[in-house]
Amino acid sequence: MKPVYYFALCAAFLFACSGEKEQPPAESTTDNAAVEDTSFYEPMPEGIYPQDNPWSQEKEDLGKLLYFDPRLSGDNTISCATCHHPDKGWSDGHPRTIGFGGKELGRHSPTIINSGYFEVQFWDGRAPTLEAQAKGPIQSTVEMNQKVDELLEELGAIPEYQEMFNKAFGDSGITFDNIVKAIATFERSVVSKNSAYDKYMQGDKKAMSSSAVNGMKLFFGKAKCSICHNGPALTDSGFHNIGVKQHGPLTEDLGRYNISKDEFDKGAFKTPGLRSISQSAPYMHDGSEATLKDVIDFYNRGGDVAKNRTSLITPLDLSEQEVLDLVEFLKALDGEPLNMTIPKLPGVVKVINPKTEAKAKPKAKAKKKKKKKKT
Ligand code: HEC
Ligand code: HEC
Repeated sequence: MKPVYYFALCAAFLFACSGEKEQPPAESTTDNAAVEDTSFYEPMPEGIYPQDNPWSQEKEDLGKLLYFDPRLSGDNTISCATCHHPDKGWSDGHPRTIGFGGKELGRHSPTIINSGYFEVQFWDGRAPTLEAQAKGPIQSTVEMNQKVDELLEELGAIPEYQEMFNKAFGDSGITFDNIVKAIATFERSVVSKNSAYDKYMQGDKKAMSSSAVNGMKLFFGKAKCSICHNGPALTDSGFHNIGVKQHGPLTEDLGRYNISKDEFDKGAFKTPGLRSISQSAPYMHDGSEATLKDVIDFYNRGGDVAKNRTSLITPLDLSEQEVLDLVEFLKALDGEPLNMTIPKLPGVVKVINPKTEAKAKPKAKAKKKKKKKKT
């Protein structure tokens, strides 16, 4: 994705294109004067729809319904929005996500804002596209716990859905591939743009406070955040072990290593995008940092765990004011409001009380579902 951009970026920041493998930061990382040069700045680009799943309004509208529809889960209680809700910055507000049956899982639910721009999906990058990604949680027994044939049957019984799938996809109608194509199309519309930072870089010098401006200089300079957080969405789409101390039910999470089997990747996670990040606390793959200030404090002390940590993370020697300035800059990355309305779903959603459901045995669940279909 965006090779042109990355070449431009490399020209502006020779140190910024380390990708997966590391390079020591160049001297210029401490040169705040570089900030007056705006060549590092890129607004969110348009046109991110892949050739095999082009945009259409019908597809986006259908995808929005599916995204909010709990019938995508086995017991009709969990939708994508349960864990990626617009009111929670498109995350879920929990440190680690709560899965099927109320069980805490190992990782934090990342925001899906700007996920259409990411080169890979998940904290460990195991899915190459949004379409491939969406198939995961629907079928995962610990997340939505849905069987594909049951899902197709359930949606097929709703005339409004039948009509919408036909409009969006023609003859192929309701298929699993079309379900995830529609959802991915909706996700690509969830974009954070026109932030105070964009306005400032486009010439409105009043758009950011002086504290945020100073934070920006630190971000691209002394605090060397932009080594990894660069590009329009402020991610290099690379993987780094930045020394996060594991919290939650997992004692160890090897992250990218599970996929690449490369020693170098032990404990490395995908660099998250930072636009609108103030909305989706807590932070990190395990939700271990509660606030943005906690995140900056973490970087300021050079991370917590030394084992396998990238040499790019070192103590920063930021003053208390500089820490606050960086927080102000991160807040200036909030995009304009999306004004997302929660859609009215077609048909009848028979929501089973999640508390009763958590206690219910799988067999009892299956019976309940059959009964529902008869009525
Ligand atoms: C039970 C909570 C839960 C549900 C339901 C859920 N997700 Fe997620 N989602 C997560 C967690 C946790 C991760 C990170 C998992 C990982 O990286 O291993 C994630 C990751 C993602 C990502 C990757 C984002 C990134 O920056 O890498 C996308 C996109 C996403 N989910 C979309 C969806 C869609 C679409 C659905 C519905 C089909 C969905 N999710 C359902 C919890 C959930
Ligand atoms: C060496 C690359 C690297 C550098 C340098 C770096 N980051 Fe990160 N950042 C990451 C990675 C990788 C993660 C996710 C780590 C994890 O969850 O284990 C992350 C996570 C974050 C998060 C949490 C986002 C979320 O969705 O949970 C914020 C905020 C953040 N970084 C801001 C910064 C700031 C500000 C700086 C400079 C002080 C900085 N980063 C420097 C790679 C980097």
